[in-house]
This record gives sequence, C-alpha cells and structure tokens, in this order.
Amino acid sequence: MLEKTALLSVRNLVTRFKSVERGKWITAVDDVSIELAPGEMVGLVGESGCGKSTLGRSIVGLEKPQAGRIILDGVDLSTLSGRTLRERRRAIQYVFQDPYASLNDRQTIGEAIAEALIIIGVVDKVEQRRRIRLLLDQVGLPDALADRYPRELSGGQRQRVAIARSLAVEPKVLICDEPVSALDLSIRAQVMNLFLKLHKELQVACLFIAHDLALVRQATTRTYVMYLGKIIEEGSSGELYAQPSHPYTRALLGSIPTADPRIEASRAPPAIFGDIPSPTNPPSGCRFRTRCPDAMPACASDPPPAVELTPSHRARCVIAADLYEAKGGSVGRNHYAGA
Ligand SMILES: Nc1ncnc2c1ncn2[C@@H]1O[C@H](COP(=O)(O)OP(=O)(O)O)[C@@H](O)[C@H]1O
Ligand SMILES: [Mg+2]
Repeated sequence: MLEKTALLSVRNLVTRFKSVERGKWITAVDDVSIELAPGEMVGLVGESGCGKSTLGRSIVGLEKPQAGRIILDGVDLSTLSGRTLRERRRAIQYVFQDPYASLNDRQTIGEAIAEALIIIGVVDKVEQRRRIRLLLDQVGLPDALADRYPRELSGGQRQRVAIARSLAVEPKVLICDEPVSALDLSIRAQVMNLFLKLHKELQVACLFIAHDLALVRQATTRTYVMYLGKIIEEGSSGELYAQPSHPYTRALLGSIPTADPRIEASRAPPAIFGDIPSPTNPPSGCRFRTRCPDAMPACASDPPPAVELTPSHRARCVIAADLYEAKGGSVGRNHYAGA
C-alpha cells in the first residue's frame, strides 16, 4: 500500500514453531505483509495468541522466519549477515510488554543506557553522562535515577527506562509489544502519552501492538487486524473504526468497554464467541468462519478474497463490501485486490 515511501516493508512473512503435539506445526505468522512509513504510528491488534508478538519478534530477529522478506530503508535484510545485519537491524528496536524482561537487575539504570550507547560508538564517559541525562529527561525521569537499580523502580519507571534505552541507539522503528498492558491501570495513560510525545518529537515510526483496540484507536493513523496468523483487515484507523468491514473486526470493536456505564449496560453482548481455534489445525477456507456470525457454506472451502474498499482499506472477507456499505461506505464492485 505504501510501496514507494515505506521505511519498513514486511512481505509474505511466515514464522512456524514446532508444536508440543508430535509432528505438528504452529504457523504463528502466515503470509503476512505489512508496511510502515517513516515516522508513522501503526496499530497491530487481535486477540491473545493470534501471532502479534511472533510477527514483531520476527521483524527484529528474535524469531527466525521460514519465509518472506523484511525490507528496511530499501535493503532486504535477508541478503545481509553478521555485523552488517546487526548494524542495520539496530534501527528497529523492540519494547517489551514486561519491562523486567529487558533490564538486568545487576546493572544501574545509567549502566544499562551506557551499554546501549557504547553499541553506537559513544564511549566517552562525559558524553555518555550527557546523553543519559538527556534520554532520562526525554522519558520523564529525573537524572538521579541513573544510579539506581531496576528493583528500586516502579513498573512505570522501569518501562520508561526500557524506552530510554531503546532510544539510545537512535532507532527509526520501535516495535512496542503491548508496552502498557502489564502496568497498573492508573499509570497506563501516562506511559501511553509518553509514547505519543516521543513519537511526535523524535519522528520514530512505531508499530504499536495491543489487544486493546481502544488504546490503538486514538494513537494510530493506520491499523492492522490479525487473526490466527493472518492480517484480515487493514486501513486508516479513522475509517477502520468507523467502517469495520470484517466480521472479526466488528466483533473486536463490539467488545471495547466504554467508560459510560449507561452505554455499557444497554449494549448488546459482544458478537464474538468461543475460543480461538488451535493454530496447529486452523479451519479450512476462512479461519474466522468457526466463530463468525455471518459464515456461509462457501467460507469453509474458499480462502477469503482481499476486498479493496478504498485504496487504503481492505478486508479479507466475501461480505466485506456489504459490511462496508452498511456503515455508509461506497465500494466500486468487483474491485478486488486479489486473494
Ligand atoms: N516459542 C514458541 N514456541 C511454540 N509456540 C509458540 C512460541 N511462541 C509463540 N507460540 C505460539 O504461536 C502463537 C502466536 O503467539 P503470539 O505471537 O505470542 O501471539 P500474541 O502475541 O498475539 O498473543 C500461539 O499459538 C503461541 O502459543
Ligand atoms: Mg503477545
């Protein structure tokens, strides 16, 4: 969709794991293509277990994909290896859900950030101190924290430190994997606002992973919706939330809690039911059909077409155009982007 202007382009990525069931495989990421423009904030949403983290981890090299290409700044990373690959890949940083996972308890905060600075060749101690102070300030932490250890910090402070350390290597892309969902409810909004502020100030592109659509809705310009390893709908966030055109996206949106108890009480129960099927044995045809309120017999046999609703909005469902039009959109018929 962004072809020419993409900073990061992931094409037909496949990542599989050996299942605990003998001889079976889990295709956690199944032929996924996504793109990020420079400085763009993009959401990746879907229920737990649908492959969001595996996609993110595959992009930064924490998992090894079986197929597909990752193109960063016009360079196909699969053509690189060793030091060249490591250096290139540094432009993509991962922010984990659990800040404990990315901090070493025996290192002070200052040491942790200095370690990242050394990677990019900042070895001068005075310059390191200067940058540490700057980075801590950027994430809203006092300079005095540099001499403290992760265990002395709150969850929110630790996540801020993890963000500061990611920023130390001057990345172009941040993959934020549910970075606020492990935090106390009361500080989620603060850390979320920090992401928005940094994104604006530093112009870092951000792939923001969340199972909570409400969080992504405000913050992003585009959203990808993932189900059982596949992207089933993508589009500009404004349109995707106003005119969700895949039954799964509609169900996900139906399950967003609202702050208003009157709306909450009067609302129909979410249309989504049942558990996500086993990824070792996904349903034939459309993967969502076993839980879909609109499933038809053909959905069991045919893989769903990618219906292009607008040049920036597509959904993989036979009735996508109907759902789109039901919400006030207008689609030129037979306008398919191919399966
Ligand atoms: N290291 C692994 N080994 C085996 N299966 C895995 C591994 N990591 C993830 N999976 C499986 O891959 C699927 C996708 O997981 P994940 O990417 O963590 O989803 P999400 O982040 O959307 O919750 C799940 O079925 C999960 O159990
Ligand atoms: Mg995850």
